[in-house]
Amino acid sequence: MISRVLVAGGTGRLGTLVVNGLAARGLDVRVMTRDPKRAAHLAGERIEVVTGDVRDPASAMTAVAGADVVVSAVHGFAGPGRVSPTTVDRDGNTHLIKAAQTAGAEVVLMSIVGAAPDSPFELFRMKHAAETVLAASAVPSTVVRSTAFLELWIELLTSTAGRSNRPLIFGRGQNPINFVSVRDVAALVERVTIDQATRGQTLEIGGPDNLTLDELARMVVAHRSGSDGPRHIPRAALRTMAATVGRLRPELGRQARAALAMDQSDMTFSASVNGVRDLFFYLPCTSAAEALRKFNAADSHADRI
Ligand SMILES: NC(=O)c1ccc[n+]([C@@H]2O[C@H](COP(=O)([O-])OP(=O)(O)OC[C@H]3O[C@@H](n4cnc5c(N)ncnc54)[C@H](OP(=O)(O)O)[C@@H]3O)[C@@H](O)[C@H]2O)c1
Repeated sequence: MISRVLVAGGTGRLGTLVVNGLAARGLDVRVMTRDPKRAAHLAGERIEVVTGDVRDPASAMTAVAGADVVVSAVHGFAGPGRVSPTTVDRDGNTHLIKAAQTAGAEVVLMSIVGAAPDSPFELFRMKHAAETVLAASAVPSTVVRSTAFLELWIELLTSTAGRSNRPLIFGRGQNPINFVSVRDVAALVERVTIDQATRGQTLEIGGPDNLTLDELARMVVAHRSGSDGPRHIPRAALRTMAATVGRLRPELGRQARAALAMDQSDMTFSASVNGVRDLFFYLPCTSAAEALRKFNAADSHADRI
């Protein structure tokens, strides 16, 4: 019986939904954050906020103590605190897994569709490394691999559109990518956290739409009553960025390299041939158009998740 859950990454886009969903089910939820101010939007008598950093094994151990399940929704691709996929997605998750083993807790690990040791994306390689550590441990676990979150990309395209209403795309923007709503993913993570029958499984979830970034950008623009196409940063400029400023600012180099890979790797996914949607047939299956409508109808940033 699961009653106490630690959500590392509980302040994030996915984590916020998972924390609120689990608390609404009556579970006691502890949120691990490096800065409690980032958890200000998470309130409720069943929610406890603890300060900690997954890069620090002792702090992972303290946060995990007493939990039945550890949900890891962290990533180090971007964000504050000089994070990286190596230090957060591989090493930080390793610390959480070891802490879970010591505490006798189970683990739900957020990973990514395409996680593989030879992926062109550093993040995907580090997610695979964490999956490997988890599989080699004695910890009962479920891995959830997701495609790209619609709401993140809608927000990025909206924020870069600015006054010109022309979103900025890194690269050609012609490669089809599967997008899934973070709400669909949160519903699955919430479900597997309490469903111990999913331990030992790796579940992949995607959305109904394979869209190019150009197509998604045009949808964003159309919602803002515009008709112009997006602007593009050429691939050559991205290569230069990775080789110059990217050496001094690793996060910029990472973004440039990821954009180059995203522009030409196979990023498609078929929701219909994937077992998760059959197994959990009640999960929402939000389209890009619906996610965009909800995003634009939301009053606040928190509601835009
Ligand atoms: N976004 C996508 O398109 C996508 C696609 C597939 C899979 N995923 C996976 O889904 C999960 C959630 O992604 P998201 O986009 O919702 O994340 P997000 O909103 O960017 O939030 C990232 C979270 O990671 C936490 N974090 C980062 N470094 C940390 C550290 N050193 N110690 C403790 N916490 C740390 C942050 O917590 P604080 O800042 O509060 O410390 C924050 O809560 C991640 O595992 C991600 O890899 C995301």
